[in-house]
Amino acid sequence: MEKGRIIIVEDEENILNMLTEFLSSNGYEVDPFNDSRKALSALKNNGYHVLITDLMMPKVDGLQLINFIQKEFIDTLGIVMTGYGSMESAITAMRCGAFDYLLKPFKFEEVLATIDSAIYYYNLLKSDTIPKGLTLKANLLRRYSENKMVRENTILRSALKDKYKFENIIGISFPMQKVFEMIERVADTNATVLITGESGVGKELVARAIHYNSSKRDNPLVVVNCGAIPETLLESELFGYEKGAFTGAVASRIGRFELASGGSIFLDEIGDMSFNLQVKLLRVLQEKSFERIGGAKTIKIDVRIIAATNRKLEELVEEGKFREDLYYRLNVVPVEIPPLRERRQDIPLLVNFFLEQSNRINNAAIEGFSEEAMKALIEYNFPGNVRELQNIIERMVVLKRSGHIDIEDLPEKFYSHEREEAPRPDADIDIDKGYDTLVSEFEKTLIMKALSETQGVKSKAAQALNINRTTLIEKMKRLGLDGSSNS
Ligand SMILES: Nc1ncnc2c1ncn2[C@@H]1O[C@H](COP(=O)(O)OP(=O)(O)OP(=O)(O)O)[C@@H](O)[C@H]1O
Ligand SMILES: [Mg+2]
Repeated sequence: MEKGRIIIVEDEENILNMLTEFLSSNGYEVDPFNDSRKALSALKNNGYHVLITDLMMPKVDGLQLINFIQKEFIDTLGIVMTGYGSMESAITAMRCGAFDYLLKPFKFEEVLATIDSAIYYYNLLKSDTIPKGLTLKANLLRRYSENKMVRENTILRSALKDKYKFENIIGISFPMQKVFEMIERVADTNATVLITGESGVGKELVARAIHYNSSKRDNPLVVVNCGAIPETLLESELFGYEKGAFTGAVASRIGRFELASGGSIFLDEIGDMSFNLQVKLLRVLQEKSFERIGGAKTIKIDVRIIAATNRKLEELVEEGKFREDLYYRLNVVPVEIPPLRERRQDIPLLVNFFLEQSNRINNAAIEGFSEEAMKALIEYNFPGNVRELQNIIERMVVLKRSGHIDIEDLPEKFYSHEREEAPRPDADIDIDKGYDTLVSEFEKTLIMKALSETQGVKSKAAQALNINRTTLIEKMKRLGLDGSSNS
């Protein structure tokens, strides 16, 4: 079976032929056109998945084709081709609704990657793989287009950067695109960065990306896990000590701050640092210098500080467990990584990324996931975030080794969760209750589901349901649901 139907519009014969041949030999069904006017009428009736079009063409240009797709509500996703010199036109095309762009001269693997992702989205949007009905589907589309806008801003700065990837960080969702943009923006400054997010969201990955995209990249990135090292040890780890500073200090030793000289220090789990050490760290931040334990010499530091925590530092500050002045010193550039359940559109990309990775590491040959399995993964809440997803996939690859992953191959919680989440309404409906009661019950179920998925945060639940927050609150009152949740 062909992988997808593609229409290519390009007035330069050699590019047209080359692309046609390449894509055909890669399993796509291709219709080539060198006359864009003819392509226009072909677009209407042929149910193409993807349109690849040159921008500059006589008669009808690529932008007009993209506009035509939008205006006629044709499902085909448009990809425009343009030269480096005319990036602006690609941006305009994206603004008009093109799905993506290719810069000439392009690499074949880049063409394939772009088309594969377009076909993937096409299928995702057409099918009911996004199971929670219209809202999620609408959200996905909205996020995707917001996402495109953000990407446009970054295009000019880094024309060739992979759009769904920053270093080895995967993410197509709007919040991840913002994270990427932030990394780019702050990497080459000396600003202190505070990365926050639940466990397993990728804080360390982001910290590394910041260091390796900075001019300090050739100097060390020193990682200190403040939560894992006991207080007394942590102090000597950070600052080092002189010979005889305490019993057992038989020789002097340099600390991590000195080790990181000219580079970056990553203070992980900063929220777990003792109050006592917080004072000492604050001094380092303020004065850019410190002394080794038991030492008299003041040592100047030239180190970029990146801190991370999965705890809510503001709350710790309120509770008096974290120094407010240190918090402000650290929180110069905040980078917040949202939990995976709030950016589900990253899940399919991550799944494929980890699948390839696990296949390679374990010398296995899993080909992919059944639709049902992918759907279950997209729906799952991932309390352990990306790390949990990575572990699940690794385990499945190791256990199964080849073929497809089906829903039964997933840990049991995936399908039991699905069973309880998707009752068959038509089978359960008791018509005798009457229309109004039934509709109220359904409203109640919907609202409760949205609330449980958003941890009871009403504004987010309202957003998920695509209604106003005030409407939600009114409905909750009417249905007797208020008082049963927080926020
Ligand atoms: N966006 C992503 N793309 C690819 N891999 C990711 C992504 N986010 C996280 N990972 C992977 O998930 C795992 C967990 O990431 P990481 O250690 O950076 O999380 P963390 O936020 O520091 O977690 P913790 O709070 O538990 O220390 C790592 O193996 C990392 O490579
Ligand atoms: Mg970490």
